Amino acid sequence: MDVVIANKSHAVYAQEICDTIEESAKVRGTGIAKRTPEYVITKMENGNAVIALDGDKFAGFCYIEAWSHGKFVANSGLIVHPEYRGGGLAKKIKHKIFEHSRTKYPEAKVFSITTGLAVMKMNSELGYRPVPFSELTTDQTFWNGCQTCKNYDILQRTEQKMCLCTGMLYDPAAIEKKNEIDIKPVKEKVFMRLKRLKQSMFLKKEEK
Ligand SMILES: CC(C)(COP(=O)(O)OP(=O)(O)OC[C@H]1O[C@@H](n2cnc3c(N)ncnc32)[C@H](O)[C@@H]1OP(=O)(O)O)[C@@H](O)C(=O)NCCC(=O)NCCS
Repeated sequence: MDVVIANKSHAVYAQEICDTIEESAKVRGTGIAKRTPEYVITKMENGNAVIALDGDKFAGFCYIEAWSHGKFVANSGLIVHPEYRGGGLAKKIKHKIFEHSRTKYPEAKVFSITTGLAVMKMNSELGYRPVPFSELTTDQTFWNGCQTCKNYDILQRTEQKMCLCTGMLYDPAAIEKKNEIDIKPVKEKVFMRLKRLKQSMFLKKEEK
């Protein structure tokens, strides 16, 4: 399995990547920010994506987005093809894109919003911490990406202060300061409790 920085030669996989992201969101029954193949190709051409290939078969993908003039960076659109799940591939992709983001944007805070436990676990391992949305980018273009999520009404109701997603942040300056302190990963139970609490607060009854 090759996990590499994508380039324009990988454009042929863009449609499959978008289809897999969309299909997986349907299966999970969760909200998702939609991506177009054109957008994915731009990410590849600019060296802002990581792709995993098993020979010439698409296996996984993730890309970088920079916000607030490069003060924030997000690793978005993580997807592993169903055939390749459960074997540590997402972790490899996450590590690769994280390293790449840190090299390209060493000063930037790296953030993520997610409802997925797998992503929460991987983020925690990398040193991300849960934070309120007020700690994330205020770049409206980022939040506009949530418009295609089925839970967008919640984000609107809360004036963008919270939603079903958990905000997570890797702050290089804070990590540097706390380097000598033993930072413990956030526990799975804590995330699940937080998720249930938010669902009971925000989801309409018939959606529960
Ligand atoms: C989520 C996804 C990327 C995981 O890919 P994967 O290759 O199976 O993940 P890995 O095998 O590398 O597992 C990474 C970690 O997540 C955990 N994990 C994986 N799938 C999980 C799930 N469905 N629920 C809870 N934890 C999960 C693994 O146990 C592992 O944690 P550990 O190191 O503590 O054991 C994949 O299932 C997928 O593409 N899902 C659909 C898209 C999606 O949900 N993307 C995230 C959007 S926020």
